[in-house]
Amino acid sequence: MTGSSQLPLLLRAARGEVLDRPPVWMMRQAGRYMKAYRDLRDRYPSFRERSEIPEVAIEVSLQPWRAFKPDGVILFSDIVTPLPGLGIEMDIAEGKGPIIADPIRTQAQIDRLHPLVPEETMPFIKTILKSLREEVKNEATVLGFVGAPWTLAAYAVEGKGSKTYSIIKNMAFSDPAILHQLLSKLADAIATYACYQIDCGAQVIQMFDSWAGQLSPQDYDTFALPYQQQVFRKIKQVHPDTPLILLVTGSAGLLERMAKAGADILTIDWTVDMADARARLGKEMKVQGNLDPGVLFGSKEFIRDRILDTIRKAGNRGHILNLGHGILPNTPEENAAYFFETAKQVDQLLAAAR
Ligand code: CP3
Repeated sequence: MTGSSQLPLLLRAARGEVLDRPPVWMMRQAGRYMKAYRDLRDRYPSFRERSEIPEVAIEVSLQPWRAFKPDGVILFSDIVTPLPGLGIEMDIAEGKGPIIADPIRTQAQIDRLHPLVPEETMPFIKTILKSLREEVKNEATVLGFVGAPWTLAAYAVEGKGSKTYSIIKNMAFSDPAILHQLLSKLADAIATYACYQIDCGAQVIQMFDSWAGQLSPQDYDTFALPYQQQVFRKIKQVHPDTPLILLVTGSAGLLERMAKAGADILTIDWTVDMADARARLGKEMKVQGNLDPGVLFGSKEFIRDRILDTIRKAGNRGHILNLGHGILPNTPEENAAYFFETAKQVDQLLAAAR
């Protein structure tokens, strides 16, 4: 046994070790598809309560851990959670997502943003992450996460989710100097927040640039990539050994650009074949993904075949098995359970198929 075999599987994958099976977790693994979550939501109807009252957020984070024993346990929170700490008030509306009452549109509003002091504005994060580490011990890896500057700016400027991103693109293409200031302030705040999560116990940080795939590649290079780099550089200065994951949805045209962000691991979505992603990124870049979340509506055989296909294409080094984006709310819970069970027996399945 090597010393590192004491480390949880996900951290070993992040170090590029050869493994019998990849670690597995699911984005949004805590959430509406679980009955336990829906029951708890009836008692705590406000998302901010569910995510900011430590006992409730701990309970939600641990629901999938108890049910499926994934290799990664992610903090239950949201990417917009730090915004009130900068002076951007927000709420998270049922079925809609984040709502910003007073969207950021002017220089004066950007000037008024305050630097983030997470220990003052988000003390609950420390309680939650510490408890998660105590609960899962060395059996799984605790993941923290943050939103990326472009995606948080999209919420701050648009005021809510958008299909077209017209308001932020109007700002980007007609008044870029203002937007660059906002992006840079957000990057500093996000880096501070990620370091705080690591100090509180997060062992990996995933950064969600969910809406950066809405940018053309040249605009990604201007408005998304430099700020992803700013965040990752600052985290690495303080915590050089914490693995960093980047997610962009709809990233098929951006993979090579994403590889320049400074992340250790890239989340691949299902619009790219895993074999193609490996060929495009080279052996050294680690990858996470990439089943279509819709696969979990299929039969058990179908789910198993897609898991095996993905694992064969990704190879036995530097791969974290995951969906390519969050699990869908009406996914049958037993299919989620089957996904985890199968993923954890995959070494036997692969041996049997040889
Ligand atoms: O992965 C996990 O289990 C951790 C939980 C998590 C949530 N939000 C909880 C949540 C994570 C990682 C996020 C990140 C997040 N939030 C992202 C990036 C990930 C992605 O999907 O690209 C984005 C874009 C948001 C913004 C946001 N918050 C949206 C679009 C929504 C969904 C709106 C809806 O109702 O469909 C939310 C609310 C939210 N955050 C939910 C959950 C589980 C759904 C509401 C609920 O279940 O109570």
